[in-house]
Amino acid sequence: MSQLRDFNTIFSLDGKTALVTGGSRGLGLHMASAFLLAGASLVIVTARKTAGEQGIDQAVAKLNALPGIKGRAAGIAANVADSKDIVRLVSEVDGLVGSKGLDIVVCNAGAAWGSRFEDAPPSSSVKILDLNVRGVFELVQKSLPLLERAATKDDPSRVLVISSTAGVNVPHVGEHGTIMYSTSKAAVNHLARNLAVELGPKQITSNIIAPGFFPSKLAQGLISNLGGEESLSNDNPLRRLGAPEDIAGVAVFLCSRAAAYVNGVDISVDGAARLAAGRLSRL
Ligand SMILES: NC(=O)c1ccc[n+]([C@@H]2O[C@H](COP(=O)([O-])OP(=O)(O)OC[C@H]3O[C@@H](n4cnc5c(N)ncnc54)[C@H](OP(=O)(O)O)[C@@H]3O)[C@@H](O)[C@H]2O)c1
Repeated sequence: MSQLRDFNTIFSLDGKTALVTGGSRGLGLHMASAFLLAGASLVIVTARKTAGEQGIDQAVAKLNALPGIKGRAAGIAANVADSKDIVRLVSEVDGLVGSKGLDIVVCNAGAAWGSRFEDAPPSSSVKILDLNVRGVFELVQKSLPLLERAATKDDPSRVLVISSTAGVNVPHVGEHGTIMYSTSKAAVNHLARNLAVELGPKQITSNIIAPGFFPSKLAQGLISNLGGEESLSNDNPLRRLGAPEDIAGVAVFLCSRAAAYVNGVDISVDGAARLAAGRLSRL
């Protein structure tokens, strides 16, 4: 007989602490919700805005109102493209998690830019690379002592990088081109692979989730430029866009004991749209 240790809790995040950047809305909020529902004791969300419809305060209120959760959510305003703010953020996270350390860091906050190649100003490249690549490097670097404190051989600490299928294909050129965004996601994929090898001996895994289209503030402009949700759904082999549960399930898996030996992989969550040549796939 096979000996599966505690299989009934293999997908549980019971008692885990997590930091989710860009957790005030969109994919970050879906993942933060899932972590609490899977048993996390503390989920810290960060974004730049505190107040308003899309600020951290409303997200924390929604998270703490989730039915049946044992843990709680907290919010810290920070710009994770800014080196000084990253240091301050990590020190505030340290104060919240204390001696327990940080089990999970999700580098999710991201910026995109769509324009003709000829029209993209230098500032758009700086913004994208600072947030999508350099900020991820620095956040993981500064969080290292906290991640190490929580890590064990049986159940490593986790770094999740939210990349994009745009990091493996060339999704949009021309009028609404996203060349530097796509490049930044390819770069952050390779950053995560490097982290997998660098941090593995410290019992910290690093993995990548590469979403396809999920309705969100970031994706909204691009979705409408490309003909809207219905048209994009028709181009997808599964005939739909991503739903909150699609990203939530993969994130919980990668942070759970079930994925304790999964390190340096990228999982596309896109219904295989990255493999289909747009409208030709319907022929
Ligand atoms: N939605 C999709 O279809 C899709 C597809 C592929 C990949 N992705 C990736 O998924 C991630 C999340 O995207 P999303 O669609 O959920 O976007 P979203 O709804 O626009 O949310 C972005 C989040 O990041 C925060 N943020 C932006 N800049 C920040 C900064 N400098 N510092 C701290 N927080 C910042 C935003 O809050 P503030 O504005 O208040 O800072 C917000 O919480 C991104 O990395 C994106 O590239 C999304």
